[in-house]
Amino acid sequence: QRDFNQKIDYVFKVVLIGDSAVGKSQLLARFTRNEFNIDSKATIGVEFQTKTLVIDHKTVKAQIWDTAGQERLGLSSSMYAGDGGSPRYRAVTSAYYRGAVGAMLVYDTTKRQSFDHVARWLEELRGHADKNIVVMLVGNKSDLGSLRAVPIEDAKEFAQRETLFFMETSALEATNVESAFVTVLTEIY
Ligand code: GTP
Ligand code: MG
Repeated sequence: QRDFNQKIDYVFKVVLIGDSAVGKSQLLARFTRNEFNIDSKATIGVEFQTKTLVIDHKTVKAQIWDTAGQERLGLSSSMYAGDGGSPRYRAVTSAYYRGAVGAMLVYDTTKRQSFDHVARWLEELRGHADKNIVVMLVGNKSDLGSLRAVPIEDAKEFAQRETLFFMETSALEATNVESAFVTVLTEIY
């Protein structure tokens, strides 16, 4: 283990959010283990992975939380109706965001709907997370250029309006994955 006997200066919790199948778990696998699985199964419940890295001469342990977009979107249908969802939904949601200092809000550049839902994810995040949380909007699957359904300008505009960082990534080709996580971790402190 890389961080054996290593002095950790900071532990930063970062959460992954966004619709199901946008590639949250594969971005996490690419960043923490340099792995990619084309047959990735939908996440069940909540998982996390850690990665220790040196940023500005400080040893930072990133603790990255991942959950299922599908389950949460289904449960949050009542949230869309405006009542904030069931008590259980609210409890799980609060626990997920508690203590998070960074967030990756992921959509799929080939699925317009996943981008249209970004505003709702942001609303949920702003309702539960610390107001100083660093948020990166991530347009994943940039390798599928011919299937693009979200113009990069639309995403840039949205990110600018909401003061989010923004990057397009490919977990498959390992494009901008490290860069997206490191940018968030660097901006945290
Ligand atoms: P939930 O756990 O259900 O919320 O989904 P998720 O957001 O974790 O998606 P996941 O990482 O499981 O990826 C979903 C599918 O997209 C899988 O078939 C992945 O192999 C594929 N995928 C993920 N990232 C990329 C990418 O960058 N490019 C391409 N072409 N496929 C990707
Ligand atoms: Mg997943």
